[in-house]
Amino acid sequence: MDQNDLGTDIEKVLVTEAQIAHRLTEMASDIDRDYQGRDVLLVGVLKGAVMVMADLARALHSRVRMDWMAVSSYGSGTKSSGVVRILKDLDTDLKDQHVLIVEDIIDSGLTLSWLLSNLRSRGAASVEICTLLRKPEAVKVELDVRYVGFDVPNEFVIGYGLDYAERYRNVPFVATLAPHVYQ
Ligand code: XMP
Ligand code: MG
Repeated sequence: MDQNDLGTDIEKVLVTEAQIAHRLTEMASDIDRDYQGRDVLLVGVLKGAVMVMADLARALHSRVRMDWMAVSSYGSGTKSSGVVRILKDLDTDLKDQHVLIVEDIIDSGLTLSWLLSNLRSRGAASVEICTLLRKPEAVKVELDVRYVGFDVPNEFVIGYGLDYAERYRNVPFVATLAPHVYQ
């Protein structure tokens, strides 16, 4: 799929397909270096992190395992509240595991703060975070994010796993939507 397939839906491309691919190889080499000699469990947060997980995992030289979680954060409208419910839990016992959470985007950071302490409480040896995108709000909260792909402005973005009403996840780049799409 490319921009031609999307007609007038796209307002602005923020991160191109090539930029994503290039950044993911850089992040993968950082991860390979940091986890040298250790077994890593990648934990993808459904559904948005599917594309990041697929491409990051293949850019790694490390032999990793992968597992998935689905969470929903309660909140009014589009803002997350930090109250999180597990929709699908991991199949893996985290005791003594080196866990790397793979996320698409961090906005308020509330979802990840909760996830971080939840996974730590299961006896993992370490839990770190890797996210493709980070919004400005996330920088304000006290959340140690080890690997960040790109900082994006405080706008609603779609593509590369991110959706608007479950659409646009298969757009290969990250973009903002034209206002008519929301109307
Ligand atoms: P918090 O605020 O807890 O929430 O960091 C992060 C989650 O909110 C979703 N999110 C977005 N989804 N475009 C999306 O498609 C966006 O611009 C956006 N901002 C936040 C996403 O599910 C993320 O995991
Ligand atoms: Mg998400």
